[in-house]
Amino acid sequence: MEEKRIKIGILTSGGDAPGMNAAIRAVVRAGEYYGAEVYGIQDGYKGMFEGGKYIFRMDRRSVTDIITRGGTILGTARMKDFVKDENRLIGINNLKQLGISYLITIGGDGTYQGAKRLTELGMPCIALPGTIDNDIPSTDFTIGFDTALNTALDACDKLRDTSNAHQRCSIIEVMGRYCGDIALAVGVAAGAEVVIHSKETFNLEEILAEAKTWKAQNKRHALVVVAEHVTDVHELAREIEEKSGFSCRATILGHIQRGGSPTAQDRILASRMGHAAVLAALGGRGGIAIAIKNNEIIEIPLAEALTAKKNMFKNFDELMHILS
Ligand code: F6P
Repeated sequence: MEEKRIKIGILTSGGDAPGMNAAIRAVVRAGEYYGAEVYGIQDGYKGMFEGGKYIFRMDRRSVTDIITRGGTILGTARMKDFVKDENRLIGINNLKQLGISYLITIGGDGTYQGAKRLTELGMPCIALPGTIDNDIPSTDFTIGFDTALNTALDACDKLRDTSNAHQRCSIIEVMGRYCGDIALAVGVAAGAEVVIHSKETFNLEEILAEAKTWKAQNKRHALVVVAEHVTDVHELAREIEEKSGFSCRATILGHIQRGGSPTAQDRILASRMGHAAVLAALGGRGGIAIAIKNNEIIEIPLAEALTAKKNMFKNFDELMHILS
């Protein structure tokens, strides 16, 4: 009698992140190698709820040439009503009708919450961290963070050129939702004068005092990196210029940070995590999150994945001495 092949569903959800495609590719290829059937689900949890043409078989050929591409070939969506259990159960039923017994979800914290609840309701999920924000505490790095960081760094370097030419301060607002990791990392990498990575690290008086020293020292340029949701950066630029006399402009980097071909680091991370997710499904381990800790790919219970503690730079205060 022919052995029954395990069927695995895969979806991407929430904000897209460069490297999601590399993770999809890894899941499909590992699935094929180990003898599992992989089903793609279009547009995240919305497609799972819709069923029908939104769920389809994938094979090696469906993931050709995608490792270099940003975005996600599966599409993504934020379906508000999926928080209702009745809708989740419809989604689970759609998968079960096809014989799918494990679901790999790639996304950020909203996606993780969904995966946790789906597991409780009877569809064991394996969550991969796919978000530029790096805000999943169980993992050192999320898929997409490194690419977004390099995109932001490139923008900072360009702003430095024009700031220098005009003897000006450039404020750059970066994404991250409520996590300051992109701001922190790009601030250090770009050699910014000031990094405001959280509301707690925003001190207007200190910034104005520093801007006055730039003016007094006849500095050519200054770079201030600000995480989103902290303050109105255009207002901040006006205030700096008015109170210090140092010319200042603000740039909101926005969604450009979510696009682009993934860096080598993101492609490798996504490939390792996608492969690990398939092994977890084959081993009968659902209700878990895949993470990277100290360069090791690990599995941790979904319930713990969002409550763990993480520090981008343990000695960030010391690093501040080489900034300004
Ligand atoms: O979670 C990724 C992210 O890009 C955040 O950095 C940002 O706050 C948010 O998504 C933007 O969401 P939207 O695509 O709905 O504008």
